[in-house]
Amino acid sequence: MDSITIRKPDDWHVHLRDGAMLEAVLPFTARAFGRAIVMPNLSPNPVTTTLELQAYRERITEALKAYPTFTPLMTYYLTDNSSAKEIADGFTNGIASAVKAYPAGATTNSAQGVTDIRKVYEVLEAMQKVGMPILMHGEALKDESGNTIDPFDREKVFLDTTLPALLKNFPELKIVLEHATTKDAVDFVRNENSNRLGSTVTLHHLMENREDVEHSEEPAYLHCMPVIKNEENQKALREAVTSGDSHFFLGTDSAPHLVSAKEKTPPAAGIFTVPSAIELYTQVFEDMGKLENLETFTSLNGAKFYGLPPNEETTTLTKNPWTIDSLVQISNGETIRPFGYNEDPAKRLQIQWKIS
Ligand code: NCD
Ligand code: ZN
Repeated sequence: MDSITIRKPDDWHVHLRDGAMLEAVLPFTARAFGRAIVMPNLSPNPVTTTLELQAYRERITEALKAYPTFTPLMTYYLTDNSSAKEIADGFTNGIASAVKAYPAGATTNSAQGVTDIRKVYEVLEAMQKVGMPILMHGEALKDESGNTIDPFDREKVFLDTTLPALLKNFPELKIVLEHATTKDAVDFVRNENSNRLGSTVTLHHLMENREDVEHSEEPAYLHCMPVIKNEENQKALREAVTSGDSHFFLGTDSAPHLVSAKEKTPPAAGIFTVPSAIELYTQVFEDMGKLENLETFTSLNGAKFYGLPPNEETTTLTKNPWTIDSLVQISNGETIRPFGYNEDPAKRLQIQWKIS
């Protein structure tokens, strides 16, 4: 097949940042997606209150003038001190779409996150009542004795501890296991009979595996949280998302960082994938011989989970190979390096599909 038309996709997990970075990265999201769940982990002050959330939404809308068809869906950043009433009201008033929960210290700008999930049970109770989804960064950082868990095992421990407790204690709560990275996660999500549990899957966890990262000349540009797992896990993710299973939906977790931050030691965690994300997801589905299930994953399952209609607009992708040939320039003089770019033109990723 050389051409495929699908309903316009949505990105159910993206980092748009703020200020000069927001201006530079937003056009890439607005070009390819109808809607996006916007992550609240702004630095230094995450989006914890309704006032902050509305102000952030206005800054996004201001930067969006050339893209009136794109809709940002806003989220609160959960802390130990979040107000249950404020958050539930934000949802019932149509201001916010969900709440993001980061275990404190798990990833970029998560220091003010949740230190113990039991501290936010009152908030979860209120969310359950109004039907507001909780978006879980699904990793446990410490075991019961307080020892740090290996980054490759953190998702599994979360699946053995926090997630079953949430499902049991909040039987109606809508939960997204964000950026699933393992076979264990895929199996767990699939075995949940209802669709009140869903899972986003990133492009980079479908395209890359641990061996690719270890052999990469520039592993910093594949460094993200949760870390990229081995080939067996990658295969399970590729099989799950292309199967048509309604639990799984597109969430790039595109997370831009300045080149200067990626080239520090240790590098900032996060990969800026949006410039070629929809094209490369299409490539994964083609490689798996499952193009017929592309639209379900990119444009239907997520909307259904969030209780929204699918986009009316369509997107056509055609076979038209290209490469990413430049860094993204920011107005303050810094740059961001997109996934697939390389200084050496011969090493740039060949992207087969293109939005036409
Ligand atoms: C994200 C970021 O940079 O904000 N980083 C990442 O590696 N994915 C945070 C997150 O989603 O974990
Ligand atoms: Zn993220």
